Amino acid sequence: MSEVEKHSSADDLWLVIDGKVYDVTPFMDDHPGGGEIMLSAAGKDGTQDFEDVGHSPHARELLKKFYLDEFAGGAASGKAATKSGGGGVSIIAVLLPLLVVLMAYFASKLS
Ligand code: HEM
Repeated sequence: MSEVEKHSSADDLWLVIDGKVYDVTPFMDDHPGGGEIMLSAAGKDGTQDFEDVGHSPHARELLKKFYLDEFAGGAASGKAATKSGGGGVSIIAVLLPLLVVLMAYFASKLS
């Protein structure tokens, strides 16, 4: 996020929308909603602002032209952590009952 915050002026403007970083500097003069409003969303996650306006599919298509990179902080890394966490849980969920069954089997053999 600190990297994105460095680009929050009218002549160098990055926005984070839905886990992706966009360099919208060339779009400042062309934005139908005005450059000023985009400046207000700069240096922070602009997803909410972008969604609140109810941008058209055309606007979402335009967004692709300014795509820069995946956002590595905040919500995006949160999603990644949830994914890897989910994998770990499912392995335990498979191994644990197997271990219990094996222990029960050997216990009955011994007695
Ligand atoms: C790269 C990002 C953005 C793109 C490509 C974009 C594109 C557009 C386009 C094409 C429109 C015309 C209406 C439509 O097609 O939906 C529009 C309108 C508008 N946009 Fe954006 N926009 C962006 C970011 C933002 C952000 C971050 C905000 C708010 C902070 C914002 C606020 C508005 C507003 C208020 C309007 C309505 C203008 C009006 O109807 O008078 N936009 N935008």
